[in-house]
Amino acid sequence: MSATENKFQRNRSLFQNASPAILPSLLLCDFSNLEREVRQLEEAGVEVLHLDVMDGHFVPNLSYGMPIVESLRRITDLALDVHLMISEPAKYAMQFVQAGADAITFHIEAMPAPQTLLEEIRATGVLSGLAINPSTDMARLRPFAEYCDMILIMSVEAGFGGQSFNPTALERLKEMKSTIGDRVLLEVDGGVNDATIHSCVSAGADLLVVGSALFRQADYCQAMTRLQAAMQ
Ligand code: DX5
Ligand code: ZN
Repeated sequence: MSATENKFQRNRSLFQNASPAILPSLLLCDFSNLEREVRQLEEAGVEVLHLDVMDGHFVPNLSYGMPIVESLRRITDLALDVHLMISEPAKYAMQFVQAGADAITFHIEAMPAPQTLLEEIRATGVLSGLAINPSTDMARLRPFAEYCDMILIMSVEAGFGGQSFNPTALERLKEMKSTIGDRVLLEVDGGVNDATIHSCVSAGADLLVVGSALFRQADYCQAMTRLQAAMQ
């Protein structure tokens, strides 16, 4: 097995074995002390971090880019799940591979013919996936589901943390689960909290991205314990 095949299998098992997993979205964390935030999340039992990259163009908000991914890679062995909310994913995806991403998801709305990029990302040993906003017809994503390692069903329009959960995501998760089964990891992102997390898992979600429901709490361990309990 080649080094990249090894890396791919390791990443795949890492994400699969963690499922169902709570993935903290670092959009709302305390960036003045990123290392302390990461240590607290590690102590709270987190296995995968979700990194929201926004370009102020594909979405009306700006967040961070490769340097933050690189910095995180240096200080932690946690898996890094990069969610690209950018207009030109093909232009930057390899830089996120270099920065240390273990999974990269980009939006079908940003790239209507994503097959080549999905394959290019996977060829580096990194899991590749497509994300879709609630307002986008699933017909645009379906033909490419077979080329994905993961599919990110957005439960809010991409762009901001702290929005309310859109239940249309549940129908989409169920549909994907029934058509692609367990071969592709299903991720849900936006408005996931103590009240909505159980229905997401029941609908088939493997990876549950949580921002405000975690980072607006003083104690991440307690918040994680509550979310884990609500998931059951
Ligand atoms: C939205 C981002 C999410 C979001 C999650 O564009 O992709 O990851 O920040 O935050 P909450 O859980 O607050 O919706
Ligand atoms: Zn996200």
